[in-house]
Amino acid sequence: MTSLPDFPWDSLAPAKERAKAFSSSGESSADEAQGEGIVDLSVGTPVDATPAVVQEALREASDAPGYPQTWGTPDLREGIVDWFARRRGAPGLDPDGVMPTIGSKELVAWLPTLLGLGAGDVVGFPRVAYPTYDVGARIAGATPFAADATTAFGPTTPSSAPKLLWLNTPSNPTGKVLGVEHLTKVVAWARARGVIVASDECYAELDWRSEEERGQSYAELPTTPSILDPRVTGGSTEGLLAVYSTSKQSSLAGYRAAFVAGDPALVGRLLEVRKHAGMIVPWPVQRALLAAVRDDEHVAAQRERYRVRREVLRPALEGFGMRIDDSAAGLYLWATAGEPCRVTVDRLADLGILVAPGDFYGAPGAEHVRVALSASDERIAAAAARLAR
Ligand SMILES: Cc1ncc(COP(=O)(O)O)c(C=O)c1O
Repeated sequence: MTSLPDFPWDSLAPAKERAKAFSSSGESSADEAQGEGIVDLSVGTPVDATPAVVQEALREASDAPGYPQTWGTPDLREGIVDWFARRRGAPGLDPDGVMPTIGSKELVAWLPTLLGLGAGDVVGFPRVAYPTYDVGARIAGATPFAADATTAFGPTTPSSAPKLLWLNTPSNPTGKVLGVEHLTKVVAWARARGVIVASDECYAELDWRSEEERGQSYAELPTTPSILDPRVTGGSTEGLLAVYSTSKQSSLAGYRAAFVAGDPALVGRLLEVRKHAGMIVPWPVQRALLAAVRDDEHVAAQRERYRVRREVLRPALEGFGMRIDDSAAGLYLWATAGEPCRVTVDRLADLGILVAPGDFYGAPGAEHVRVALSASDERIAAAAARLAR
């Protein structure tokens, strides 16, 4: 293993203490609206109740004396295939190329290792990105390489190209969505060089673009484009993996319920190691995951909650003098005040609002902060009132 970076959240502790100490003067109704204490918009952990349909499925599966299947039960894999057809515009996937994972973070962190990558192999990922892509390369002893365009890898041949390329659409932290055309180009480039493409799509259901921007109606294209969309794949999933998590869409981050889908040969390689290593999604969670992917209603309700919070927070941040960049989809607003991000973090902490500094996600994020939509309506309203002060 190559050495791991410091755990970034530890560096946010002083700002958190500052934010916790916030108290309004309480002298007027405007003060009252600001509430007391911290509004934590940093980590992006879901706060709404896990939907009843999912809780019920978990409870019903609580009698579990035997070992569950690492691959997931056939009905779970079929349920995920149906979900891709219904929600992602990716019909006809092979259920053999589907496997549940113990949340997505573990898969992101272990994918290079599970694929057998190691010293001398390059793992690519976006320059502003979820830090675990880098961590996963390091765990495998491979070389992490941050790049925003395939040209950044130079004039590669199959022997010098990266072995694995991560995409993240919609992006955490920027909220940028990769369109079908972009995905298609990346897949063609990767296939010509034998590069495996893993697309982390865990915010796909939180698409804030209008129908006009998306170019298709909601019914035709219900979520952001998937790497497994046939317009991208040309009908073959070879070399491609989509990574998805129900943590955010279904408020069940505590369950650890996610999945990977795509090329059956690649999923077969992952499965082989995971069976030996005991990386199994618990049976009650497998049943809860199935309930979550079968039910679109709770996802629509959760999306609506985040939409309302976004519509309160976005103008409040703009009124405070910040610019929102990208943020077309996902759980975050990617905001800048045109100053070093730690200065913005401290200014917001003085208002009792804790956000994540953009430098957590790579050097190009140094003047941005990431503001999560995952706080209660009351906390979001308090943040907006404080920003308007
Ligand atoms: C881009 C991205 N991928 C993966 C994950 C992991 O999600 P989980 O482990 O909850 O499934 C997150 C969580 O924040 C994320 O932002």
